[in-house]
Amino acid sequence: MKKNLTLLGGLSVKEFLRDYWQKKPLLIRQAIPDFTGLIKPQQLMSLACTPDTQARLVTHKRGAWQLQQGPFETEDFSGLGKTRWTMLVQGLNHFLPQAAELLKHFNFIPHARLDDLMVSYAPKAGGVGPHFDSYDVFLLQGMGHRRWQISEQKDRTLIEGAPLRILQNFIPENEWILAPGDMLYLPPHWAHNGIAEDDCMTYSIGFRTPSYQELGEQFLIYLQDNLCLDGMYADPDLKTQSHPSEISSDMLRQAEQAINRIKWNKSDIANFLGCYLSEPKAHIFFDPPENPWPLKRFKQVAQTSGITLDLKTQILCHNDTVFINGEAHGADRDDYKILRILADERQLAASTQLPDTVMTLLYQCYTDGYLFPTSNQQMSAP
Ligand code: SIN
Ligand code: CO
Repeated sequence: MKKNLTLLGGLSVKEFLRDYWQKKPLLIRQAIPDFTGLIKPQQLMSLACTPDTQARLVTHKRGAWQLQQGPFETEDFSGLGKTRWTMLVQGLNHFLPQAAELLKHFNFIPHARLDDLMVSYAPKAGGVGPHFDSYDVFLLQGMGHRRWQISEQKDRTLIEGAPLRILQNFIPENEWILAPGDMLYLPPHWAHNGIAEDDCMTYSIGFRTPSYQELGEQFLIYLQDNLCLDGMYADPDLKTQSHPSEISSDMLRQAEQAINRIKWNKSDIANFLGCYLSEPKAHIFFDPPENPWPLKRFKQVAQTSGITLDLKTQILCHNDTVFINGEAHGADRDDYKILRILADERQLAASTQLPDTVMTLLYQCYTDGYLFPTSNQQMSAP
């Protein structure tokens, strides 16, 4: 059944994916009617002061760009003034349940593509300058108004020596002022410049596109961790050679044969992809329960209240394997179906019948702080 979404300006998901996704920008007025934002500027500034958030402060004064990385102290904000600065905080969905709820609107894009929900706050004239990203991004306007200028330009020259990536020759082809609830979709590499018209907050829902170079490098790291080659170099028939400094062709042949034994197949690549894409970023830490319940008690509570994932948990599935925060867990068909519901919905209802094998995995995740019985869910708010 074709369902047209307000979120996509009356387009169906199929139409959006066919005509816009990775192809061209789409401006959607009132994508989320009545949306005024999830947090207040003051809460964002406090979040920027907590050690486990990734925060950046960008200022643009007298023609010079400056970038400071968080975590910040409140004193850092004293000289900021009333205009021309922006505070950006990554991963709001890891701290705020409402942010994780907002992401559910974008469930028509696979979770494997999701990066995070970033939020920015800027007083009048604040912005991060004209730039391009290698992400697909939905820029959803919260509080206030932001002027977005965009261009498909091929000139990607950056200002040399600037502390952040700013385009030297940005020539806007289109511009709009976005009000609360309006949203702009941009494919990767479209140049854009967002300037605050007044006190303004923007929510960026980013979808990452790993480069082939990144995939290749990371796959080699994965292979290294999973490599198992037996045997060792041997030369019982060693021949004399006139130049002892030369690597002999015998040695080369033997090394070549050993290295040619390194093989991989599609399931190794699937395993790598699941582990890599579900691996939390380096600054993410979980809070395991200090006094975890014994398995028996956990079972009772989980069965009666259901299970909810911690906001920081990343979970993906493929072919009877569930990848939880960078680790692969094989499952039989029926268990997989249950775990896939947990991955899709980020929770399991109380009524779900949980076999012992699923329960054992969930218990292990509970002791690692990856999930909670729903009644015990951490509702952290900034
Ligand atoms: C912002 O919210 O100020 C910047 C978002 C972006 O350009 O990607
Ligand atoms: Co951008």
